Amino acid sequence: MYKILANDGIDKSAKVALEELGYFVDANHYDGAELDDMIKKVDCIVIRSATKIRKPLIDEAIKGGQLKLIIRAGVGIDNIDHVYAKEQGLIVRNTPNSSSDAVAELAIGHMFSLARHIYIANVTMRQGKWNKKQYAGIELNGKTLGLVGFGRIAQSVAKKAMALGMKIIYFDISNQDGILENCKLVSKEELLTKSDFMSLHIPFIKDLGPFLTKKDFDMMKDGMYIVNTARGGTIDEAALIEALDNGKVMAAAVDVFEEEPTKNETLFTHDKVSLTPHIGAATAEAQARIGLETIEVIKEVLS
Ligand code: MLT
Repeated sequence: MYKILANDGIDKSAKVALEELGYFVDANHYDGAELDDMIKKVDCIVIRSATKIRKPLIDEAIKGGQLKLIIRAGVGIDNIDHVYAKEQGLIVRNTPNSSSDAVAELAIGHMFSLARHIYIANVTMRQGKWNKKQYAGIELNGKTLGLVGFGRIAQSVAKKAMALGMKIIYFDISNQDGILENCKLVSKEELLTKSDFMSLHIPFIKDLGPFLTKKDFDMMKDGMYIVNTARGGTIDEAALIEALDNGKVMAAAVDVFEEEPTKNETLFTHDKVSLTPHIGAATAEAQARIGLETIEVIKEVLS
C-alpha cells in the first residue's frame, strides 16, 4: 500500500477518496527531526506553502527512503528545491489548474477595496470615525489594468476585469500576443507608464530579484494602484513603501510578502495598504479542486 503524507493537510473529500482508492494518508503536520523521519517512510509527500522541502530534507528522504513523488498542492513551487529533487530522481508536481479563479477573485476584490477605500474605512469606522469626504473613490470602469505575467491566473483576472469595463494590457516573458481577445501585449516600459491599476501574476525568481524596483516605480503613472497576489519578493517592499509615501502609488494591496508571516511593520501598518495573509487559493472550491487534481497526479505517478 502506497503511503502519502499530506503534511499541510488536504481537503477532506480528497483524503477519503484516496483512502477508498487504497492509499494510506497521514494528514498530520510534522516538523524538524520528526519530518526527517516521516519523509523516509512515505511514497509521496503533499505540501501547501507551510512546509519547505529544501536540500537537507531531500537528502534525508533519499537516504534509504521510499519517497518518489513531491506534490505542491497549489501553483508556486518556490518552497521546494525542485531542481535538486529532480536531480535525485524524485518527481515534483504541482496543481496548476485549480486555483486560478480563486486568486483572480481576490485580486479583483483588492482592486475594489483600493478604489473605494473599503479596507481603511473598515479600520477607521471601528475607531468611531466617519470619514465620508476622505473616502471619495474612483471607478474601475474605463481604467487600464496592466497585468504582469499572462498565465492562467492573469487571464482569469483579465476576463473578470474586462466584464467590469477595464482595458487590459499585459507584459509576459513569452512575448505572445493574441492570447485573449482585446488584451494587448506591451513592453515593460509601456506597462509601467500606462497602467492605472497593476496586478502581478508571476513567480519570484531569486536570481532575477524583484520585478518592481525603485526605478520601475519612478516610471509609473502618478497615483496608480497596485495589487500583488502572486509571490513575495516580486515587488521590492522598501521601494513600494517609498512610492506610497511620495504618492506615486495611491494605494497597494498585498497578499504575499518577502517574509511570511510578514514582520515588515512599516508595510502592514501603512494606511494606504490593503492586506490579506496569503489567501489567494484559500477558497472551499479551489481547495476541493486542488484535492481532485492532487488525486489525479498521485494516480498517474504511483499507479
Ligand atoms: C499557490 O502558489 O498555490 C498560492 O500562492 C497559494 C499558496 O501558496 O498557498
